[in-house]
Amino acid sequence: MPSPWLLVAAVALWGLLLVPASAGDVPAPTIPKGKGEQCVADTDFMRRNHMDLLTHQRDDTVRRGMRGAKFSLNGCVECHAVAGANGRTVTAADPKHFCRACHDYAAVRVDCFDCHASRPEPKMRAAATGATKAGRR
Ligand code: HEC
Ligand code: HEC
Ligand code: HEC
Repeated sequence: MPSPWLLVAAVALWGLLLVPASAGDVPAPTIPKGKGEQCVADTDFMRRNHMDLLTHQRDDTVRRGMRGAKFSLNGCVECHAVAGANGRTVTAADPKHFCRACHDYAAVRVDCFDCHASRPEPKMRAAATGATKAGRR
């Protein structure tokens, strides 16, 4: 007779094996759904390459003065806005923020929102600037 605990352990292990492996090395966290039909690029591509896209976009903007291209950080936070308990869109200070869904999970820390707004701000969009509200989160 195997000990009941051994059985429990075996069943638990079996359960783990049944969980499908997630894409990449990072286990799948709960990610809030984006707005609209699709992302600015293929979702799977975005999952893996958004950091490079954003960095290139930033380099283009800051060094070459390019604006309004496809991979704008304002665009990200607009489509990926998440409502908090009070109905207001959460900022990056809240663990529910879209960008933190995975980052907290993967222990990634980004400093982007030290300068950039982490939720849509109508006035900023009107002014078409990316990071003029320094310190606002
Ligand atoms: C020290 C402040 C600062 C930090 C930190 C910072 N940025 Fe920026 N970022 C700026 C400024 C200033 C601009 C230029 C804004 C403009 O001219 O429109 C800019 C522009 C951009 C742009 C192009 C404008 C837009 O919204 O599309 C992107 C994309 C961008 N940053 C991404 C990032 C990302 C991603 C991070 C984090 C890894 C980051 N930034 C961190 C200050 C900062
Ligand atoms: C027009 C709206 C829109 C914009 C702008 C947008 N996204 Fe998306 N994004 C979506 C949709 C829709 C999906 C796929 C549905 C979902 O969220 O699972 C998605 C998916 C993603 C995913 C994968 C999420 C997952 O479930 O694994 C990432 C990562 C992502 N977007 C990052 C970004 C970044 C970074 C930016 C800015 C450069 C951005 N998105 C701009 C709408 C948008
Ligand atoms: C689907 C999960 C997921 C979502 C959603 C997500 N990220 Fe990421 N992000 C990651 C992972 C995983 C890494 C680490 C990749 C690595 O280390 O190679 C990362 C890394 C980054 C980096 C580079 C950090 C560094 O120090 O190298 C930036 C910048 C970044 N993400 C920006 C964002 C922004 C902005 C958003 C929200 C608009 C966002 N990410 C949403 C998974 C995600």
